[in-house]
Amino acid sequence: MQDEIEEVQRRAEREIAEAGDLDALERLRVAYLGKKGELTALLKRVGELDPAERKAAGQAVNAAKEAVQAVLEARREELSRSELESRLQAERVDVTLPGRDAEVGSRHPITRMVERIEDLFAGMGFESATGPEVEDAYHNFEALNIPEDHPARMMHDTFYFDEDWLLRTHTSPVQIRVMRDRSPPLRTIAAGRVFRCDSDVTHTPMFHQVEGFVVDEGVTFAHLKGLLQDFLQALFERDDLPVRFRPSYFPFTEPSAEVDIGCVICDGGGCRVCKHTGWLEVLGAGLIHPNVFAQVGIDTECYSGLAFGMGVERLAMLRYGVDDLRVFFDNDVRFLEQFGP
Ligand code: PHE
Repeated sequence: MQDEIEEVQRRAEREIAEAGDLDALERLRVAYLGKKGELTALLKRVGELDPAERKAAGQAVNAAKEAVQAVLEARREELSRSELESRLQAERVDVTLPGRDAEVGSRHPITRMVERIEDLFAGMGFESATGPEVEDAYHNFEALNIPEDHPARMMHDTFYFDEDWLLRTHTSPVQIRVMRDRSPPLRTIAAGRVFRCDSDVTHTPMFHQVEGFVVDEGVTFAHLKGLLQDFLQALFERDDLPVRFRPSYFPFTEPSAEVDIGCVICDGGGCRVCKHTGWLEVLGAGLIHPNVFAQVGIDTECYSGLAFGMGVERLAMLRYGVDDLRVFFDNDVRFLEQFGP
């Protein structure tokens, strides 16, 4: 029996030394020391021996059990330490890696353009004003010298709610609101959304305008020309930018003009954007019509005024070199993030 005990112990110790993980080790513990384990079985057989041999055999089996138990414990500690180590290794965090950037939003190019225009006019003493996007026909048309039957109403493809209420088709009604509420001298700029029932490659049903006007004693067309020329050259950061005034018609200004700049894409040489004319129309302008002043109670014996309006998307397209109006409204972050914070 001695030999048998020794053989089992040696085999157990060898297998324990070779056990690759804690599960394998547990299986070996059951196989040797468990209720039906080999060493347990040997201990049971001790009872069947001659009384003379029992004591020595019992001691030998117990010694073997203790030895195997000890080897098992030692191996268990070794294995759990290395399992912990490999887990730590696998889950290691490299604190020297650069952090992930949080996505930071940026101002929309149209917002940037509006702010830039407002800043330039603020530098010339203009205050900002706003007006409602849902307007009444009086402010949008009537008070601007566009009576009910006036053909100019047809030119505005208006979204009507009913006979009286509509989405403003331009920012000019803000002129009326400011002139009615306040008295001259006035230098005001008003940016905002406007709406027209119109949609194709170069038109969207909603777009942005900036309106500007000055009311004071002795305001002339020369002021209008100088003001807009300075503004446009500052906006496009070019002192030599050509600016020209073409006679035109708006019911609320007299005389009226459309303002062109030399094409910033082809430098006047002729291209698709300027339809080979070398010029780009960027503003409508004029001196405020006496009928408009009459509506808001401003005395034309003392005061005169100038007014102008521009489309923000168009200016943004020219300034940022964007050739499709619709990208301003798609809100694709790959487009928007090119404009910085
Ligand atoms: N309101 C005009 C438009 O929408 C622009 C304009 C404003 C023209 C002020 C003259 C004076 O086309």
